[in-house]
Amino acid sequence: MKIAINTGGGDAPGLNAAIRSATLSAIRRGWEVVGIRNGYGSLYSDTPFIPLTRERVRGITMLGGTFLGTANRGNPFEMPYQKSDGTWDLEDRSDEAISAFREHGVEALVAIGGDGSMRIANKLSKKGIKVVGVPKTIDNDIWGCDVTLGFDTAVTTATEAIDKITTTAESHQRIMVVEVMGRYAGWIALHAGLSASADAILIPEIEFSIDSVVEKISEREAKGENYSIIVVAEGAIEKKGERFVKGKVIGQAEQLGGVADYLAKELSSRTGKESRSLVLGHLQRGGTPSTYDRLISLRF
Ligand code: F6P
Repeated sequence: MKIAINTGGGDAPGLNAAIRSATLSAIRRGWEVVGIRNGYGSLYSDTPFIPLTRERVRGITMLGGTFLGTANRGNPFEMPYQKSDGTWDLEDRSDEAISAFREHGVEALVAIGGDGSMRIANKLSKKGIKVVGVPKTIDNDIWGCDVTLGFDTAVTTATEAIDKITTTAESHQRIMVVEVMGRYAGWIALHAGLSASADAILIPEIEFSIDSVVEKISEREAKGENYSIIVVAEGAIEKKGERFVKGKVIGQAEQLGGVADYLAKELSSRTGKESRSLVLGHLQRGGTPSTYDRLISLRF
């Protein structure tokens, strides 16, 4: 048996641990293991696969990121390409991807990724590749899975950041708005916000109203609590509003961002209090995986 391992989509703490776990358990079964580089990107090159051996995966459990590389534009069914007039379009190169598997005798794929990667894995399986999906995303938004790889570490990072911000908010009697990741799901905001005792938590699942946030801040002021911590997921939407989009690149999901900045300005003008915003961004995706993430990488 020869299997390939791929990491796709945004990186997350625990990816290297998962690559190591899958490699070692396959080798123990007597199988050959190869890795795909840059989220399917290497499938179109002369060296589509790299050998994964015991030596190659030694000592990587604690490392953030993925040593295989990843890509957000690696969907073989929708590959961006530049047309002769300079504009970009998408093309289906899945047959080339399947040929690479067949030519190198790769019988099965371990696809470690988020919702996008699982969709691609599903389509590859329909084209005849045997697939095992390993759910990975800091957002924890994969259907049918309680906790995804990377979520625990990301929440811990966000909680620690909010703890640190809280001391400054209190010292300066400010409103601090912390934007965390979470495109369609508010798990990071909810878990980190609750853990760090935030005063308001805004998540994509429930449209927010600035009036309610202002009311909460006023209640706190009336009790002599003259600072407030607001945690907002990047994908949170105001009532009758839209998602805050920073940019769009063909073949990739929209880049979100800006909701914390918007809220800080609004809250400042409505309450008269000094308000600041902080975007945690990719900090949440890096670093050493937590014990929990290392353990679920083994279980997956
Ligand atoms: O899906 C995980 C995620 O962290 C989202 O929360 C976020 O919107 C996205 O990745 C950002 O991806 P990129 O690094 O491509 O901007």
